[in-house]
Amino acid sequence: MKIAVIQGPNLNMLGVREQQIYGPMKLEQIHAQMKEFATQNNVEIEFFQSNLEGEIVDKIQECYGEVQGMIINAAAYTHTSIAIRDAISAVNLPTVEVHISNINRREDFRKENMIAPVCTSSIVGFGPFGYHLAMMGMLQILQEIQASQQMQAQAEATATE
Ligand code: DQA
Repeated sequence: MKIAVIQGPNLNMLGVREQQIYGPMKLEQIHAQMKEFATQNNVEIEFFQSNLEGEIVDKIQECYGEVQGMIINAAAYTHTSIAIRDAISAVNLPTVEVHISNINRREDFRKENMIAPVCTSSIVGFGPFGYHLAMMGMLQILQEIQASQQMQAQAEATATE
């Protein structure tokens, strides 16, 4: 099982940018914790960060057929990008959206969310711990998919007996 973690613009500045909102943790530290949790659970994980909308669209497209789930923080593009929304929709993979801050309690323009309607779920406002919650949620989603696939395969096998 493999999952991709996709990080949008300015998240490479975590630990420096607006610490009162995003906290002191750097992106590398968040990724190191996610990697540890993934390894403990026998899940392969890859990380990608870009400040460019088109590169994020390309990465999401590359996930098709390569990974079983995506965790994405589209950062500011969350509020503007129909292209990222369409890419998520196109690959049709289980996708958990993360926001470090609670975007619903901030400026009005952050309440607009292009991404959420095409994601399986959204985790907001837990700080960097939200990425850990997203990992736990993703494992649960993938286990449920696996279980239902196994049940279907069993049912088909019984039907052809
Ligand atoms: C963010 C929230 C966005 O509104 C903002 O543009 C970001 C980070 C978050 O994780 O809280 O860059 O996605």
